[in-house]
Amino acid sequence: MKKIIIAIDGYSSCGKSTLAKQLAKKLNYVYIDTGAMYRAVALFALQNGFIDVDFFDEKALIQHLDKINVSFSFNAELNTSETFLNGKNIEKEIRGIIISNLVSKIAKIKEVRAKMVELQREMGKKKGLVMDGRDIGSVVFPDAELKIFMTAAFEIRAKRRFEELKAKGDNTSYEAVLKNIVSRDDDDTSRTENPLIKAPDAVVLDNSNINQEEQFLIVMNLVNEKLKS
Ligand code: DC
Repeated sequence: MKKIIIAIDGYSSCGKSTLAKQLAKKLNYVYIDTGAMYRAVALFALQNGFIDVDFFDEKALIQHLDKINVSFSFNAELNTSETFLNGKNIEKEIRGIIISNLVSKIAKIKEVRAKMVELQREMGKKKGLVMDGRDIGSVVFPDAELKIFMTAAFEIRAKRRFEELKAKGDNTSYEAVLKNIVSRDDDDTSRTENPLIKAPDAVVLDNSNINQEEQFLIVMNLVNEKLKS
């Protein structure tokens, strides 16, 4: 059976990982959440005192990049892939608002991106991969067989993320979540290094007014076309 690479890019909190996980499960492909990789680097920088709300020692982080090992492991019990930083499970820590507010600064750094892109390309060597992020179709895998560019209205994304955090016991307010999304969109699209852009051959998927099942069916049709061709 032919195996392809599916690149999913788009704005934050558009449900990229939900779609990517559904596809990986259905196709029996590997799923890689590249946002988690940047979040892991942000956590490393925070833990080592290289970054905080009001300061960032970029040079120190760059000098210590070779001390960072990010990996993923599938947790069968929870039926989900979990992120590890130097062997430690950091899944919970990297999803909170502290890392969400720092991660854009980390994702701007050329050296950080170069290291992440190299790791990501390595993961795609055997194909059979669904990868989500911001630069997957444009930079990491410009030859990916299927590229999806996801978008949705600000307020809808903020509401979804707010509910998700609340369900996990995180008390961040809706206003704080909305503010974070607006500022991350701005950071993602305005940075010099690999900004969020739609690859010319990507299919745009606006999920403001469709549910997860509908979205999944639309994309599975696209996948099936690619597998046939
Ligand atoms: O998808 P996410 O919200 O977990 O991503 C976290 C941050 O990392 C976000 O600020 C965008 C950035 N990112 C990136 O620059 N490139 C990627 N391929 C994935 C994420």
